[in-house]
Amino acid sequence: MSETLTICFANNKGGSGKSTTCSNVGYFLAESGKRVLLVDGDMQLNLSLAFFDEEKVLSFAAGEKNLYRAIQKQSDISECIVHTAYEGLDLVPSSTLMSSIEFELFSKWQREYILKKCLQKVKESSAYDYILIDAPPTLGGWVMNILAASDYLIVPVEASPWGLFGLSNLFEFLSEAKNIAPDLKIGGIAVTKVDGRKNYFKQTMETLQELPAHVFETCIHLDSSIEWAQDNSKPVGKYKRSSRSSKEYEKLTEEVVQICR
Ligand SMILES: Nc1ncnc2c1ncn2[C@@H]1O[C@H](COP(=O)(O)OP(=O)(O)OP(=O)(O)O)[C@@H](O)[C@H]1O
Ligand SMILES: [Mg+2]
Repeated sequence: MSETLTICFANNKGGSGKSTTCSNVGYFLAESGKRVLLVDGDMQLNLSLAFFDEEKVLSFAAGEKNLYRAIQKQSDISECIVHTAYEGLDLVPSSTLMSSIEFELFSKWQREYILKKCLQKVKESSAYDYILIDAPPTLGGWVMNILAASDYLIVPVEASPWGLFGLSNLFEFLSEAKNIAPDLKIGGIAVTKVDGRKNYFKQTMETLQELPAHVFETCIHLDSSIEWAQDNSKPVGKYKRSSRSSKEYEKLTEEVVQICR
């Protein structure tokens, strides 16, 4: 039986490509024959919307099959799993109630480890090769839960001046997280939303090289296929296979498999 690896996608900067990267890496992992569980850790429901239409996502959010319920009840997450349209790719949807998750955690015993405990049975069952968690754009008790439940962190970074601003806060937070998540490793920084017409990209790469983290070789360029794919609740590899971003996400996924093991 192989071990389940948990990888989270986090960056306190909003719009850096966390949900897009989590969903597309998840899709390509499943396509390559891996069994993947996606966990939507954000009240914005974006990871859920990447695979289901709005009506379905809102019905998950309003019902029992969502992450908020599992955290609230501190129960086994497998009760909240739904199957996507793709073989080997399952999801724990989120809920808008996640907006009060910090408050919910506040009074709980060992509050940094609630998510880890909720995932424990699924991990022990080895039903999945990978669990991928999409984090919200915050740094707090809930993101600490996500880090404590993960073996690896991938940091999607938008190739822009403001995309880089704030990364030092993230790395400071990570050094604090060391006590709570001593085994967490930084898988790497994934550069996203690269505009090939701008030479700012070169500077982005130079700045990132100074950070204490691996930078994935494959960068994801701006590509309208991403938006069309999301509009159709599909991963880009399914929506438009020939698109640049589909090829890039497929390559990035191969790198992730090599690094996160
Ligand atoms: N390669 C790309 N090309 C074009 N648009 C993209 C690309 N990657 C992401 N986007 C768009 O950028 C926006 C932000 O992406 P995404 O939601 O993945 O970021 P995020 O880090 O998860 O955001 P948040 O911090 O709000 O959770 C989305 O509207 C998405 O469609
Ligand atoms: Mg997101």
